[in-house]
Amino acid sequence: MSFVPPKDDFPILARPVNGKMLAYLDSAASAQKPRVVLDAMTEFATTEYANVHRGVHRLAAVATERYEEARLAVARFINAKHSDEIIFTKGGTESLNLVSYAFLSPRISAGDEIVLTKMEHHSNIVPWHFMRERKRAVLKWVDVREDGSINPSSVAAAITPKTKLVAITHMSNVLGTVNPIKEIVAIAHAKNVPVVVDGAQGAVHEIVDVQDLDADFYAFTGHKLYGPTGIGVLYGKRAHLKTMRPFNGGGEMIAEVAEDKISYAEPPARFEAGTPPIIEAVGLAAAIKYLSGFDRAAVKAHEQDLYEYARAAVGHFRWVRVIGEAPHKGAILSFETLGMHAHDVATILDGEGVACRAGHHCAQVLMERFGVASTTRASFGLYNTRDDVDALITGLEKARSILC
Ligand SMILES: Cc1ncc(COP(=O)(O)O)c(C=O)c1O
Repeated sequence: MSFVPPKDDFPILARPVNGKMLAYLDSAASAQKPRVVLDAMTEFATTEYANVHRGVHRLAAVATERYEEARLAVARFINAKHSDEIIFTKGGTESLNLVSYAFLSPRISAGDEIVLTKMEHHSNIVPWHFMRERKRAVLKWVDVREDGSINPSSVAAAITPKTKLVAITHMSNVLGTVNPIKEIVAIAHAKNVPVVVDGAQGAVHEIVDVQDLDADFYAFTGHKLYGPTGIGVLYGKRAHLKTMRPFNGGGEMIAEVAEDKISYAEPPARFEAGTPPIIEAVGLAAAIKYLSGFDRAAVKAHEQDLYEYARAAVGHFRWVRVIGEAPHKGAILSFETLGMHAHDVATILDGEGVACRAGHHCAQVLMERFGVASTTRASFGLYNTRDDVDALITGLEKARSILC
């Protein structure tokens, strides 16, 4: 394998925690940050920081330049046609809420429908529930097949003349399933229905080309992408953004404010009220540069290798039931441990220096679909090694011996 996991780039992984090297298998919740990201943020805050857009002094100009450079870096990363199609938000969740409030809400009435899948994260469910509660819209759920995949023709079948939006994840944070977004967008567009894609996991593990996918909106988040917390991205087609009402109100999103009238700035400023996440934007740009410095296909192959190695190992445990075996899936391993509670398993793993997540993973509809209350989830990032998987397997054996 040509790819060498750059563990030493990540300060938190390079030193022991409680006397043990950390096997961090929770990157789907949040990825660790490489030193270059931390340094870029410190360096910027130490030497170039000021508020953006509103000052005439030198630092204000420099900071604005850095902030707008970050927007360009994001646009290039997902191959957006125009950098003004990139809106900085505070996370993937806010990006999806922005679509719900500013795009869908004025366009949806009682009885209209939103199509979504049962594998969505709550971030791509709750904003649509708001439309159900507040506008009496109807949620139409596309089922997930037993292997964790979606049948695109089920999406086609769910769309009716009343459908106002299809909301779908690029990659499931529980199953690892990578959905055929391009095909689903084409199906929806053939019926004149826009599509919002939750790319919180997809942007990390897939090479995203929003022009090729042709999605109307693509939402993702900095902290899973080896960048900082507090920053997310909403990509939206320029034609949509121009017609959308503002989201938050405040400074920077206006053209003019008078006592009895107001007009709004053009996108993206219209959707970036107040002081934006400036230091975080610099950090996100550094994270994108860091990730893009690798052969992304090699990173993916490496993560896939770890997944398959772990999958084969848990396959020997008759007390483990893996959930999510779609033919196209990324490096996320979710499983039920029969006779043991996922939280107990994760607690014992933690004692062994293995950080795994246990719970419903903000995907309760999916948990219900598979008839489980919770799973244990190991998710892999570019820094993981087979040693981390070995630590997971040893920890699972220990959990079994203690709990059963
Ligand atoms: C698939 C998916 N969508 C959305 C989110 C929400 O992202 P954030 O917490 O950054 O708002 C997550 C985070 O776990 C996720 O995994």
